[in-house]
Parts: sequence; C-alpha cells; structure tokens
Amino acid sequence: ARMAAMENVIVLVNRIQRACTVLGDHGGDGAAASLPALWEALPSVAVVGGQSSGKSSVLESIVGRDFLPRGSGIVTRRPLVLQLHKTEVGEQEYAEFLHAPRRRFTDFALVRMEIEDETDRLTGRSKQISPVPIHLSIYSPNVVNLTLIDLPGLTKVATEGQPESIAQDIENMVRLYVEKPNCIILAISPANQDIATSDAIKLARDVDPTGERTFGVLTKLDLMDKGTDALDVLEGRAYKLQHPWVGIVNRSQADINRNVDMIIAREKEQEFFHSSPEYAHLASRMGSEYLAKLLSQQLEAVIRARIPSITSLINKTIDELESEMDHLGRPIGSDAGVINETFELNCIGLKQTYVTPFMYLCRLSYI
Ligand code: GDP
Ligand code: NA
Ligand code: MG
Repeated sequence: ARMAAMENVIVLVNRIQRACTVLGDHGGDGAAASLPALWEALPSVAVVGGQSSGKSSVLESIVGRDFLPRGSGIVTRRPLVLQLHKTEVGEQEYAEFLHAPRRRFTDFALVRMEIEDETDRLTGRSKQISPVPIHLSIYSPNVVNLTLIDLPGLTKVATEGQPESIAQDIENMVRLYVEKPNCIILAISPANQDIATSDAIKLARDVDPTGERTFGVLTKLDLMDKGTDALDVLEGRAYKLQHPWVGIVNRSQADINRNVDMIIAREKEQEFFHSSPEYAHLASRMGSEYLAKLLSQQLEAVIRARIPSITSLINKTIDELESEMDHLGRPIGSDAGVINETFELNCIGLKQTYVTPFMYLCRLSYI
C-alpha cells in the first residue's frame, strides 16, 4: 500500500504538470492567473552539468533506453521534461510526446529523431536555444515513477554560428529551473576532472549553498587514471552535500558505437562496483538503478511536504477557471477524462475542454 501511495503521488503531480502545460499553452490571455504559480510549486528533478559530463547517458541509464540525441556541441537546446511511468512487467514499452498525442513510439530511435525535429521546429537549424520545454512520457516496466528535466549543458565557448552570448544564455536558462526551491538538482560531474572545476557543482553551490536539494553524481569512474580513485568525492570529503554522492559508470563511446544494450550496461556497471577493491564497500549505493530509486524517494518526500501549498494553489486555480468558464459558457461534453483526447480540437474548443479534465484530475486525487 505504501508503494502504491508513493507511485500515486508522483503520477498525480505528473498529471497536474501536464494539465498546467496544456492550459498554459492553449489557455490564451484569459488563462487562470495562478497557473504559473502552480507550475512553479510542482517539484521536479533537473539534470545539470557541463557539456559531455554524461548527462544524457545518466538519463538513458535511469530509463534503461537509448533515446536521446547525442553528438558534440550543444545537442540539448530545449529543456526536455521527461516523465517516467512504471508499468507492469511484460508490458510493451512506449513513448509519447505531449505535442504529438496518440502517436505511440515503440522504436526509440524514432523518439530521438522526434526530439531533434521538435527542437528544430522552435529554434530553427540555427543551433539557437529555447526555454520552451519538450514533454516526453515513457511507459516501461524498467523505470521508477519520476520526472526529470534534461537541460542544455553548461558551456564556456560559443561554437560556429552561435551567438557570443550562448554560454550566458544557457546558464540563465538552467538557473531558471534550479533556482526554484522545490527543484531537486541532479548535479553531474565527470570523475576524470577536478571536482573543484565542476560547472554543475559551481551552479548548485550558488543556488543551494547548504546542499539540501542537490544530488551529486560522479560519472566516468572507469576513466580515471590508474592508481587514482574518487573516494574523497564519493565519501563526501571533497565536497559535502546533505545527500550521499552516487558514482556512475555509463556506456563508453565505444559501447555506444557497438550498440551495447542499456540493461546489459546497467549490469556491467554493477559488476564494476562490486568487483572493484576501492568501491566494493559502497557498491549497494552506487549505479544508475540506485540513483533512480533515490530520486524517486526524494521526489515523493518533497511532494508530500508541498501538498498543502499545492492544494491551495490548485483550489485557487480551479476557482479562477470556474469563473472564466462562467464567463465563456460551459463546454458541452464534460467527461473528457484523458487530456490527450482533446488535443485535436481547435483552439477555442481546447481551452474549454481542458478545463474539465484538469478539474477532474485535481478532484479525483486524494489531495
Ligand atoms: P552530455 O553532453 O553531458 O549529455 O554527455 P553524454 O552523455 O552525451 O556523454 C558524452 C560522452 O562521454 C559519450 O561519448 C559517452 O559515451 C561518454 N561517457 C559518459 N559517461 C561515461 C562513463 O561513465 N564512462 C565512460 N567510459 N564514458 C562515458
Ligand atoms: Na553532448
Ligand atoms: Mg547531452
């Protein structure tokens, strides 16, 4: 029962988050004034780190699937809000975008292409960045319920064709997310660089000086120089956070080129920790599967702590939407239970039909 409750609370916030996005995007000028505040109040986990620190790899390990665009340069140019939904063992895995409802992606190579296309739709091929998120849901027996936000990598230099301000623009965008007091920061640093120079830690320290909402993740442990280890970091001596550091071994570029399966990679990662003389004593608290569970628990705790304020914001938003509907007239069908069902309606229809599932979702819940 406890497990079910834990899953419910995250699933519920996922739904409210999507409803907010839909209302925010299509609600027009009259949309409830409290919506932005409600969106702000919803807890999330944001992934931050320098370019090539291993952000995409960590996300893919958590999902157990290979689906993110990759390459050199600034690959992630819009935030990706990734909602993971755990399904029953044996069920087919699939992905769905909020901007393309009803299209179920079972081929994850197509998910990657769709992220690329959808990124370009807003930014052009100019390699600009945009703060407008892409929403992707993945349904799989191999995930825990969790919402993660992938953000552009922190960088110091503009590459060809990008404006000089790009480094600052990216930092500003990342800050927008991690400044929120209820944002859990997944700060990714590579083990083969000095932790003192980590972009992720610098930014996290700035917005979360006490380290209470920062999770330090150390990637590339397998790439450290022979004879060195990362125990100073992993045991919290090099840089102390309230939460324990988690070490990760992602697939190497050679593994990626050879198409090493993600689930196999997770097993190899476990083997790395268990068989290593330095890390064996930490093995049960290392790796991407452990990280996913840790984050899910933390997200649940943050959500529980915020339930009273989220509830009052929801009620306020509902009141505003109700009075807006009184003003506009009520929608004809009032049992549109699934948000996605209403996507194909025209803009005027959208606004009114979305209100109903939103209220339905809010009232259905045990909040
Ligand atoms: P991002 O730019 O932060 O999203 O970084 P990526 O996840 O795309 O990783 C950049 C490169 O580093 C890729 O070639 C990965 O294969 C490699 N990489 C990431 N993490 C690890 C790791 O833990 N071990 C090894 N050997 N390579 C890694
Ligand atoms: Na990259
Ligand atoms: Mg990346």
